[in-house]
Amino acid sequence: MTTTTPTTPTTPTPHTAYVHGYSPQEARRLGDQADTLAALLHAGTAYPPGSRVLEVGCGVGAQTVHLARSSPGARIVAVDRSEESLTQARAYVTEQAPAADVTWHPADLFQLPFTDAEFDHIFTCFVLEHLRDPGRALAELRRVLRPGGTLTVIEGDHGSVVFHPDSHHAHEVIGHQIHLQSAAGGNALLGRELEPLLTDAGFTDVAVRPRTVYADRTRPALVDGFTRKTFIAMIESVRDDAMAAGLTTAADWNRGIADLRRAADDGGTFHYTFFKATAVSPQP
Ligand SMILES: C[S@@+](CC[C@H](N)C(=O)[O-])C[C@H]1O[C@@H](n2cnc3c(N)ncnc32)[C@H](O)[C@@H]1O
Repeated sequence: MTTTTPTTPTTPTPHTAYVHGYSPQEARRLGDQADTLAALLHAGTAYPPGSRVLEVGCGVGAQTVHLARSSPGARIVAVDRSEESLTQARAYVTEQAPAADVTWHPADLFQLPFTDAEFDHIFTCFVLEHLRDPGRALAELRRVLRPGGTLTVIEGDHGSVVFHPDSHHAHEVIGHQIHLQSAAGGNALLGRELEPLLTDAGFTDVAVRPRTVYADRTRPALVDGFTRKTFIAMIESVRDDAMAAGLTTAADWNRGIADLRRAADDGGTFHYTFFKATAVSPQP
């Protein structure tokens, strides 16, 4: 694996607070999420050896490992605005994918420290949903992507949640997470908007393919890795913020979470859809 000394961060653009934060629990949740969903989300994404690939918002490297494994020989450049996350990402990828060719850059994705058309491919996962202005971010990604190069974007959409046993209280706690993400400038319902966002940003050949996760007791790895450790863990992580914002009481919160957990019990079921989009930077 190749590493470089991190570059000096550019002046950050005013941007949204990151609703999930940077705690060790969140790092673990991102890892569980990426590993559980790797086959589903990374299927069809492989870049040729020698190609220059930019991963935007790499976080703690949870997706970077899968990118590197699917694209041996690709020259990956991974960017995040959190230097702490990048330090963890570097250690994680060194351990998990020692042959990977990755360089790490602390940078704001709205002001990337790269020249025009520097990359053959760009990959970004669960990042646009945290931005106040995803359209402006896409314009910056288009700037650094060569004409004919590809962009891959993966986002969730909490509106796709369907579970059994159904519960009004459980839907309420999910609604609090959606509200808090929105209050922080993001959009937990972004998946459904990918096609118009990419088209409006000037990309061509836009193709959005929903990737559905469905978990019940016949798929215990998904129940544990996705329903419990990814989705419910994400909702639980905003408990204090939801209380502080006056959205809920301890009793209502506990009731909603207890009901949501029933979807991961024997006889419970849980469904969620991710949206994976690919697009091409137009030729001049
Ligand atoms: C939900 S995490 C996803 C991390 C990783 N892509 C994954 O799927 O595990 C979102 C990441 O986007 C980064 N991020 C948010 N806004 C950013 C910005 N303006 N510039 C660079 N990184 C940003 C955050 O620091 C965080 O690491």
